[in-house]
Amino acid sequence: MSDERMLIVGGHRLEGTVHVSGAKNSAVAIIPAAILSDTPCVIENLPNIEDVRVSVETLRYLGATVDWQPESGTMSIDASTITRTEVPLELSRKMRASSYYIGALLARFGEARVPMPGGCDIGRRPIDQHLKGMRALGAAVETSYGMVVAETNGLVGTDIFMDMVTVGGTINVMLAATRAEGITIIHNAAKEPHIVDLANFLGSIGCRVKGAGTDTIRIRGNRGLSARRPYAIIPDQIETGTLMIAAAGTHGDVTITGCIPTHMEALTAKLLEMGARVDEKDDAIRVRSLGAHRPVSFKTQVYPGFPTDLQQPMSALLCTAAGTSRVVENIFESRFRHLAEMERMGANVRVYEQTAVIEGVPQLHAAAVEASDLRAGAALVIAGLMAHGTTEIYNTHYIDRGYEHLETKLNSLGAEISRFIP
Ligand code: EPZ
Repeated sequence: MSDERMLIVGGHRLEGTVHVSGAKNSAVAIIPAAILSDTPCVIENLPNIEDVRVSVETLRYLGATVDWQPESGTMSIDASTITRTEVPLELSRKMRASSYYIGALLARFGEARVPMPGGCDIGRRPIDQHLKGMRALGAAVETSYGMVVAETNGLVGTDIFMDMVTVGGTINVMLAATRAEGITIIHNAAKEPHIVDLANFLGSIGCRVKGAGTDTIRIRGNRGLSARRPYAIIPDQIETGTLMIAAAGTHGDVTITGCIPTHMEALTAKLLEMGARVDEKDDAIRVRSLGAHRPVSFKTQVYPGFPTDLQQPMSALLCTAAGTSRVVENIFESRFRHLAEMERMGANVRVYEQTAVIEGVPQLHAAAVEASDLRAGAALVIAGLMAHGTTEIYNTHYIDRGYEHLETKLNSLGAEISRFIP
């Protein structure tokens, strides 16, 4: 982890057109899902980000044959050469989505040993619902020495009621159920776009999944799954939203192409409420903003509500709205750490448990700030674009986990961003 820093010279209006990359949270679910196919899979539109690199390392550690040209976005995966069913700590520690290898390895090989994913700066992030699903399907699951050890002589489909809406829990149970005997019904399922994307991928390798995108998903297990065509993942909803917010924050005029406007409706509504202009086309969104922004309030919710992953970037935009905004974080316990960094840039924020009250100020000013997680880093980039002066962001590796060439994209729109290692 280098001490590389990002320098952002603020005050530039963003103008022009930028193409959004493939969705990180689809990629980290669909790459392990390739383990379920008896024949090699080809996945397209993958972003060249750290989490995809870790996914490749993990598959290769397990013995899969992976051909990936990072800038091509295309990866071929042959899981038939896998010889291991244990994910090492040094790899699982790098990516929370490593827990998906529990469901995928259990489904294909009847066993999995995966380190418990650690918590992170946004909350405890337990996986009790993941393990509840595996046990419901008939696996013996133990947690010992920080490892999840799961075994089965054959998973059997059943009804599974998730105690809360969990994206990762829904994904992990979907993966495990694909080769189970009979039908699995997941009740109280997550509905995020990447859940639907995973369901479509599973359909492309021969597993019938119905109801993805609703709160009830039916999966008909099939032990003979095989890829028949390349699968292209969806565009990144959160990168799209980050770029939309950056456009509004710099009072710019930006068209984001290759996106899915219907995935952005909760954010679009808030930007319109603030006084920005948002125009939608089939696969593009144009964001313009001229005058001062009105304050808005929102609560993060499961999809299709306001996404928790855009709470942090949006809070940066609200720092210079003309009035008081209220942000309630309902999904994670501690996702406000970026606000203390933005106070160093002149923001006026007070936090009461899960609510942040943001009093708009006329102008943010540059500072040296530290990213504490991926979306906190995105929020600080946006604050830096808006601020007067040159902002220095530490811990840029967090940003690289989930954004492909973020500063290249922003610089192509007129930003002035560079990196250096002191
Ligand atoms: C996924 O995390 C995303 N990560 C997160 O994006 C995103 O913020 C989150 O979904 C919500 O949309 C990936 O897809 C790789 P959850 P996940 O399970 O699956 C609790 C980013 O920036 N919970 O829906 O971990 C949990 O603690 C990342 O791209 C349990 O209690 O989210 C949280 O409070 C950050 N027990 C809430 O549910 C469980 O078994 C929602 O978590 C599972 C979750």
